[in-house]
Amino acid sequence: MKKILFVCLGNICRSPMAEAIFNHQVKKKGLMNYFLADSAGTANYHIGEDPDPRTIETVEKHHIAINHKGQQFEKMHAKAYDYLVAMDSSNRANMKIRLGNENKHIYLLREFDPKGYGDVPDPWYGGLKGFDEVYHILDRSIKEFMEFLQKKKIGD
Ligand code: 4NP
Repeated sequence: MKKILFVCLGNICRSPMAEAIFNHQVKKKGLMNYFLADSAGTANYHIGEDPDPRTIETVEKHHIAINHKGQQFEKMHAKAYDYLVAMDSSNRANMKIRLGNENKHIYLLREFDPKGYGDVPDPWYGGLKGFDEVYHILDRSIKEFMEFLQKKKIGD
């Protein structure tokens, strides 16, 4: 079983949406015994909270279940997870600071985006349209990320 941790800032918009989409795609492919995703935020603002209502509305529109409580990214996550995946470069920089001397590769999700690269935009200050845009970025990037993970599994 490979465990993946998606990380954003608040852990109520992008990373719980990524977790839900990833676990949904895993289920669709029948790979539940191989991969499991969770999520965390670099900030402590929303610990214990449900995802943002706009996140819930967006994924449910696509018939995807979402069930997460906010947690903060900690050093111990580097040991507990096989893959750390940041939503944007500032998340990644903050994760590196928190990891200190714990040397662990941190992927940027959009390294896997067939249509681009860079940051998954933070939708927090905008409306539902921004959440929809994030959904599509995550959906296509996670499909590619999963291909990458499956290739690795064969090579293991
Ligand atoms: P997220 O979005 O990092 O995608 O969960 C945000 C959620 C909350 C805040 C910022 C970004 N906030 O400032 O509370």
